[in-house]
Amino acid sequence: MWTKKYLFLSVIILLSFVDLKAQQVSEINFYEHIAPIIHKNCTPCHQPNKVGPFNLISYEDVAKRAKFIARVTETRYMPPFPADRKFQAYLNERSLTVGEITKIKLWIEGGLKEGVKKNSSINISTQKEETKPDLILKMNKPYQVLGENVEDFRFFNLPSNTTISQYITGIGFKPGNKKVVHHSRLMVDTTNSMREIDGLSETDSRIYEFQKTALKDEFLYGWVPGNDKIQFPKGTGIRLNAQSDFLLNMHYAPSPIPDTDQSEIELYFAKEPIEREVKNFILRENDISNKPFLIKAGEKATFFISKKIDKPMSLISVLPHMHLIGKTFRAFAITPDGEVVNLVKIDSWEFNWQMTYQFKKLLKIPAGTTFIVEASYDNSVENPENPYNPPREIGYGWGTKDEMLNLVLYYLDYKEGDENIEQN
Ligand code: HEC
Repeated sequence: MWTKKYLFLSVIILLSFVDLKAQQVSEINFYEHIAPIIHKNCTPCHQPNKVGPFNLISYEDVAKRAKFIARVTETRYMPPFPADRKFQAYLNERSLTVGEITKIKLWIEGGLKEGVKKNSSINISTQKEETKPDLILKMNKPYQVLGENVEDFRFFNLPSNTTISQYITGIGFKPGNKKVVHHSRLMVDTTNSMREIDGLSETDSRIYEFQKTALKDEFLYGWVPGNDKIQFPKGTGIRLNAQSDFLLNMHYAPSPIPDTDQSEIELYFAKEPIEREVKNFILRENDISNKPFLIKAGEKATFFISKKIDKPMSLISVLPHMHLIGKTFRAFAITPDGEVVNLVKIDSWEFNWQMTYQFKKLLKIPAGTTFIVEASYDNSVENPENPYNPPREIGYGWGTKDEMLNLVLYYLDYKEGDENIEQN
């Protein structure tokens, strides 16, 4: 039986090898084999008015950058998705299969054959149909980005001016000017005590005072180029108290010329009664077991969080957060039965690609589970991301050159059967 199965498998492997070999010689061409891969995985960002720095649509677009494309796909730098997909499965995954990466390589080796264009109109739209947001909050006025080629981190206050509490079912962000907006982070303040931070630089000393305020949502949403809006499962939503303020933390990329930006956030509210409230659970610097949270100049350090919860949860999403000198991040949970539930693993931290990872299925976390977070930082001169040269001691702060350690989880109180719910 076993040998039969083995033989069968070998034949399959051999056949697929022969198949590839045959393709390798002559068949691989752009229109038939490469365009479908590119149009599905790259073009959503690499087209006019999207975040990619150049178009990847036509044969010419792709052929002229073929070697570069082979490199960024082989190293898995593109399509961007820093989390390890073998560790956990996510709804918003992006990746190429090994077969697809190989095809691109073989296409180059075979001399970039064009093939025959099948139909004249290439369907490059992969966007789902959009529903209109219920509330759009725009920055009060255009922000002037100086054309001095420096990075600029700013905080803006956007009052919601809502008179009743409502439930948010989805959140999006629209950069006002894609040339300068690098990424953004959204927080919710119910104290209304931070209205004067509107447009404050993160280096302003007042920020150090404001960052002591306990916020309702320290990390409601994080936007990076290409990030879609987050949509909570049907019948669920996040409570937004009346008169809440949104704090928008903007990262502006260095610009050689003066420019402006007026970005906006888009909120979707529940139209029907909400059956279940989306809550957030944040593990943060205070929860670190090997405090103080300080990384000495020139040193590497790893910090650990271990926190037990006493009620069962159904996890919707996970968002790991560190700043520039973060290197690796891993989070998982151990149930009272000793079972390990993987949450997120990032082996090569990318400050610019911080995402909310939404689980494919709701993840059940039983009462008595312990969450474990392990995050490493490199404050040495060898780290090219180190904002200081020579290195300086780095500790907690909202500033980009300071550090943070957060694990933000969105969850529902557990209900029987949640673990079978697919998110979409
Ligand atoms: C989520 C949006 C997104 C998707 C999907 C995406 N890209 Fe990109 N790509 C970007 C952005 C933004 C940049 C510029 C910033 C950077 O290099 O990180 C970029 C940069 C690049 C670069 C230049 C890299 C460099 O070092 O300058 C190449 C080449 C590239 N992409 C190829 C691809 C290919 C091939 C795919 C599909 C397999 C792809 N991209 C999918 C957003 C995307």
